[in-house]
Amino acid sequence: MDIRLNVDGIAPFVDKSAEKNLIEKAVAANKSLYEKTGKGNDFLGWVNLPSSVNESDIAEIELVSQNLREISDVVIVTGIGGSYLGAKAVIEALSSSFEAYANTGNPKIIFAGHHLDEDYLSELLDFIGDKRVGCIVISKSGTTTEPAVAFRIIKRHIEQKYGREAAKERIVAITDQSRGALRKLSEQEGYRTFVIPDDVGGRFSVLTPVGLLPISVAGIDIRILLKGATDMENATDVGTPAAENICIQYAVARNSLYNTGKKVEILANYNPKLHYLTEWWKQLFGESEGKEGKGIFPAGVDFTSDLHSMGQYIQEGERILFETVVSVVKPREELIIPDDADNLDGLNFLSGKRIGEVNKMAELGTMLAHVDGGVPNIRIEIPELNPYITGQLIYFFEKSCGISGYILGVNPFDQPGVEAYKKNMFALLGKAGYESEGERLRARLK
Ligand code: PA5
Repeated sequence: MDIRLNVDGIAPFVDKSAEKNLIEKAVAANKSLYEKTGKGNDFLGWVNLPSSVNESDIAEIELVSQNLREISDVVIVTGIGGSYLGAKAVIEALSSSFEAYANTGNPKIIFAGHHLDEDYLSELLDFIGDKRVGCIVISKSGTTTEPAVAFRIIKRHIEQKYGREAAKERIVAITDQSRGALRKLSEQEGYRTFVIPDDVGGRFSVLTPVGLLPISVAGIDIRILLKGATDMENATDVGTPAAENICIQYAVARNSLYNTGKKVEILANYNPKLHYLTEWWKQLFGESEGKEGKGIFPAGVDFTSDLHSMGQYIQEGERILFETVVSVVKPREELIIPDDADNLDGLNFLSGKRIGEVNKMAELGTMLAHVDGGVPNIRIEIPELNPYITGQLIYFFEKSCGISGYILGVNPFDQPGVEAYKKNMFALLGKAGYESEGERLRARLK
């Protein structure tokens, strides 16, 4: 595999004698993902997903993507949580940080429905103005408030601009096979639809049409992405010995640290394109593991930026942290630091070096400083950022998460705690059936 896991930086912190037991648990966990014998076993469709996507499904996604690309300057992807973060992560990781969409030939992908901010939606309407607009609305349940509210606004804009009949060409829905409000609405309006499989939960759905359609519209080759994921699926299946299975190794490393009191994992990158990969990872691990009073808290930092904000805490604050670095070995572009005749900043010792080399030394220096300061270090080394490696990375994290959740003893595939805020919000907004709860909550807020 192209991804290498380096756990040398945890050695001073973990109890080696307890590792054997964790490895046995991890091997059993991986087996039960395949044999569907563990908790949440009706949500394991993602385990074999990359290798089982068939040609006609990919071709259909590409066809719809091509149509949206041809008729849109802007495509608004409307969804939240697992119905948003995977696509956002992959598109950000693999797109230019600056290039205007007009120069790329790809429509600009923007996201909506991932919060309830009124200003954002108003500004979005201003931005799309007279641009040619398409929309991919994604919700498995079809009833999630944030995307449903945003979609009402976007649907009205598209219908006013093109008429209800032509809106059908511009709106694609991705939802449950048969249940839910979005399924019903799509049938009524005649939208093109894709299905989120019943046995794939939101945060494990990036390799279904949920992620693949927006990623394809952004001009990224989803076949290569899937090939990377398939190769990782094969390299981490039950036939791979634990010592060679990087998902088992990562799950064991993080649980070894958790058992010594390291309760916060910081996913760190030295490449801002990976910011949303971290956001996706936070949801994947946070929603999967944080339950029953247990779980590693997933946090994220973008270095070196955050060394100037969070660096102090990481170096010297509460010793409950460990750090996992996604380390890109080779930057895509070569940029040399020029010499300066005056050398007022005293940095001529860097003249002629690549910026990437300075970044790498910052990374290695930080790792050593953090380990010395009591922060264990795990490194996930990837040769470069491309669709193939990104596919590998996605599946690597998904499988590691399933194994890690089982080691912890929770059901990694449900999210009962997410309902609590929704119940209160509906009660405060006066939804029918929530009247007495609404009164009780309002009294508490006085
Ligand atoms: O992982 C999950 O299941 C959640 O994060 C969901 O993806 C999120 O709540 C959005 O749900 P839905 O797709 O039903 O709108």
